[in-house]
Amino acid sequence: MREASDLRRETVSLPFPPGEENQTGAACRVAEFMAGAVAELATRLDLPPREARLEAQVLAAHGLGVERTWLIAHDRDPLPAPQASAARRLLARRLAGEPVAYILGWREFYGRPFRVSPAVLIPRPETELLVEAALAGLPEDRPADVLDLGTGSGCVGITLALERPGCRVTAVDVSPAALAVAHDNAAALGARLELLDSDWFSALAGRPFDLIVGNPPYVADGDTHLGRGDTRFEPVSALAAGPDGLDDIRGIVAQGSTHLAPGGRLLLEHGWTQSEAVRALFTAAGYEAVQTLNDLAGLPRVTGGSLPKRPAARPPGG
Ligand SMILES: C[S@@+](CC[C@H](N)C(=O)[O-])C[C@H]1O[C@@H](n2cnc3c(N)ncnc32)[C@H](O)[C@@H]1O
Repeated sequence: MREASDLRRETVSLPFPPGEENQTGAACRVAEFMAGAVAELATRLDLPPREARLEAQVLAAHGLGVERTWLIAHDRDPLPAPQASAARRLLARRLAGEPVAYILGWREFYGRPFRVSPAVLIPRPETELLVEAALAGLPEDRPADVLDLGTGSGCVGITLALERPGCRVTAVDVSPAALAVAHDNAAALGARLELLDSDWFSALAGRPFDLIVGNPPYVADGDTHLGRGDTRFEPVSALAAGPDGLDDIRGIVAQGSTHLAPGGRLLLEHGWTQSEAVRALFTAAGYEAVQTLNDLAGLPRVTGGSLPKRPAARPPGG
């Protein structure tokens, strides 16, 4: 990314007598450009003004190669036409509905930047609850074998590997394109974990885990949300899971017990309307301490259950 000072050099060095911007190659001043962008985003995407301003700033800063603060500090600077067009191209993509994260190529998760592409789900803030719940069950002084199912960008598995460097983390996905993104993120963030191409547990026979976490697809096939907003651009294989959205969760809960060590725990994210059904699946499969956690919006979002601990060995002769 170019430094703000580079752009400042280009713009400030241009002579700009008031009213002669077009002759010198400037399209408009920064403030005018931003006001137009905010108005267009608010009107055409029906965004609240605050969100429209934030998106306009993030996209313009990315297009111009400057920090967001530069746009505010230099709002009276002229914006040369080539730079205005670069920013306008990004705004046009957003106005066509493309998610900001795909345009920028990254999204923050648990305080770290994760590269994203249309091959992966954009990490959601709700999924940080899954990470919090996992970390609560992973004491720093006790190394454990951890599995992240359906890793996508790698946001969950990589975060766990970075927060608990003593743990052995494995992360799987069935999408090679998603795994390539996860590999890039692991390398960029310096995380050590094993990334495997696996249809859920297919490549993991005979490997017991102390903790299995997952944010599997959980949207019902015909759900109208699939045709709205950001989800229109995300891989449907990362989102949809059968008529009631529970096909993948059903399979994972049923198979999970054969991949957990005694006393091991399974934690799954799900839709906020699915918690009762998911708890019933855990209970029917023999998990204990089945519990659902609410996200920051107060919605039931993550359910977990543990395998019984191995029964205590009988004393000799007892
Ligand atoms: C909802 S996304 C979650 C991605 C990431 N863990 C996150 O929280 O942002 C679900 C992920 O599961 C993967 N997936 C779908 N079916 C799978 C399967 N049968 N085996 C392994 N992964 C699968 C998808 O490719 C996708 O990356």
